[in-house]
Amino acid sequence: MSQRITLIVIVGVMALVIAVMVLNRGVSSNALPTVSLMTVKKESHDIPAGVLPLPEALNGSGTLVVWSAHAGARLEPCGCVAGMHGGLVRRASLVSRVGAERRLVLECGGWSGGAADYQLVRAATYLRALQRTSQAVVGIGSAEVQLGVVKLNQLLHGSDLPTLVSANVQRADGTWFGERSVQIERSGQVFVVTSVALASSTGAGLTVLDPEQSLLKIIAQHPKSLVVVMADMDETALMALARAVPGISLLVGGAVAGPSPQPLAVGATRIVHVANEGKTIGYWPWGSDACHYDLVDDRVPDHPLVRTAIRQYQEQLAGMELLSDKQPTGMTTLRRDDVAHYTGNNSCLICHATAHAGHALSKHAQAYQSLVKKNYEYDPDCLRCHVVGPGFPDGFQRRGEPVAQREVIQRDLAQVGCESCHGRGSTHVAERQNGRVSSGSFQPVTPATCQRCHDLENSPKFNYNSYWERIRHGR
Ligand code: HEC
Ligand code: HEC
Ligand code: HEC
Ligand code: HEC
Repeated sequence: MSQRITLIVIVGVMALVIAVMVLNRGVSSNALPTVSLMTVKKESHDIPAGVLPLPEALNGSGTLVVWSAHAGARLEPCGCVAGMHGGLVRRASLVSRVGAERRLVLECGGWSGGAADYQLVRAATYLRALQRTSQAVVGIGSAEVQLGVVKLNQLLHGSDLPTLVSANVQRADGTWFGERSVQIERSGQVFVVTSVALASSTGAGLTVLDPEQSLLKIIAQHPKSLVVVMADMDETALMALARAVPGISLLVGGAVAGPSPQPLAVGATRIVHVANEGKTIGYWPWGSDACHYDLVDDRVPDHPLVRTAIRQYQEQLAGMELLSDKQPTGMTTLRRDDVAHYTGNNSCLICHATAHAGHALSKHAQAYQSLVKKNYEYDPDCLRCHVVGPGFPDGFQRRGEPVAQREVIQRDLAQVGCESCHGRGSTHVAERQNGRVSSGSFQPVTPATCQRCHDLENSPKFNYNSYWERIRHGR
């Protein structure tokens, strides 16, 4: 191990010397920030136990481009059903197999995953975990532009962040996030790496310059370099960009669902792409005529550093007040004229003993416990489907003192309850207790009610008839 580190340090020093030589030869007038191997920490060389070895075709000593796109800050899949793909916790393990001296890890746009306050904290966690494990160069895509300048500043504040590059996204005052491009040394080659977002992307307080013009400028400044561009674009736009801007060595997309089976060629430019929410990771041995992909599935062991980051993020959520605590993002709709409030399952027990008993045995009654078991019970992203009325003053309270009836709320709103499907129950309970006929305050329960939670992502096998059979109840 220590031999390997020594070797890497030597390679690093050599790389630095070469980089300095290259810098001194001509490009010194607009010296690029150079990311040297010296910044690569030792910990990133530890390969977690049980990771399958790198496929034969990817072995060797040449530069290996490794990329993902549209990852949406997914640290790990939610685990609602078995066999879910993706997540940095696994992707980082796959990346760790490639020696830091030869891997060029690119994180294309679409990594941010939402504009809510907790989503920004998650994105920041994601970037730092990416930096600690993979030392990726990170691009800016449409999703990031959409966040606008205030949220981007907030997200990109502080230390330990990866190198951020964009050739065409700047603040309205003309300043840049990170760098316009960086120079990176891998396997004895020098790469100039940058990214572009679509000219049509918009975000408050941001200017998106023409991608073609922006790239032509960078290429003119580095005529002899291997220019690598991450572009958050679909395949047609990628091809058009390659035609309009000769001189790009490699274009990496982007907003494309399927992977390119082999690098596409436009003149001397090669184009590779895969998006797929970071569920697939792409590899391209520099200069070869084939790409390789790994589906990031549940056989890939966790990377311990990302696992730790996930735990820290969840602890952070537990200590934070969030806007979503007071803004219902939940799956229970409130009718505008609804005067009823949530009363909890136990208030139904006395009159609907059979339905109640059946429900208590169903998985719906365990929905909150499932989050507790995974330490995700403070995550608003999970609670929206796993408890009753999250974000409403009378619904489940994520943390702290609820507005009313702490007892009732904490005891039986921590599940998918009767009222998750039927709606608020207080009016019905009051009427029935007084022997009156219900005024029909309950909403009709239809398959669409189920599908607000049982969506394609979280319940791909959902079928109303067979699922209803498993929780069928009446009075
Ligand atoms: C859009 C709604 C939705 C969201 C958001 C959601 N879940 Fe789920 N979850 C479900 C549904 C529906 C099921 C049941 C799926 C099935 O069996 O078809 C489920 C099941 C589960 C299970 C039980 C799996 C089992 O084997 O019994 C776990 C654990 C779980 N979710 C964790 C999470 C976590 C952690 C998050 C947040 C990161 C989350 N869920 C977010 C809807 C959701
Ligand atoms: C004091 C007794 C009582 C309580 C408490 C009560 N119910 Fe009812 N409920 C009835 C009666 C009586 C009917 C009408 C007869 C029937 O359908 O069997 C009814 C009917 C219903 C119906 C079908 C008809 C409709 O009104 O839409 C649903 C659904 C229902 N109750 C759900 C609930 C839920 C959920 C709770 C707890 C929040 C609850 N009930 C609490 C007595 C009660
Ligand atoms: C508020 C969100 C929500 C709604 C609405 C909802 N479910 Fe669920 N459902 C869940 C969650 C979450 C789970 C997983 C619970 C667990 O295991 O942690 C689940 C689990 C189930 C399961 C058990 C699956 C298994 O793995 O055994 C069945 C069956 C089911 N739901 C049927 C339905 C039907 C039918 C409807 C509509 C009538 C419905 N659900 C509406 C959230 C919901
Ligand atoms: C996952 C969604 C879901 C949950 C949770 C749920 N129900 Fe239901 N319930 C339904 C559906 C669907 C029906 C049948 C369709 C209908 O009549 O609305 C139904 C029917 C009923 C009926 C009979 C209505 C009638 O007209 O005959 C009663 C009463 C009832 N539920 C009470 C309850 C009580 C009490 C609870 C909690 C202990 C509960 N339900 C939990 C979805 C749910």
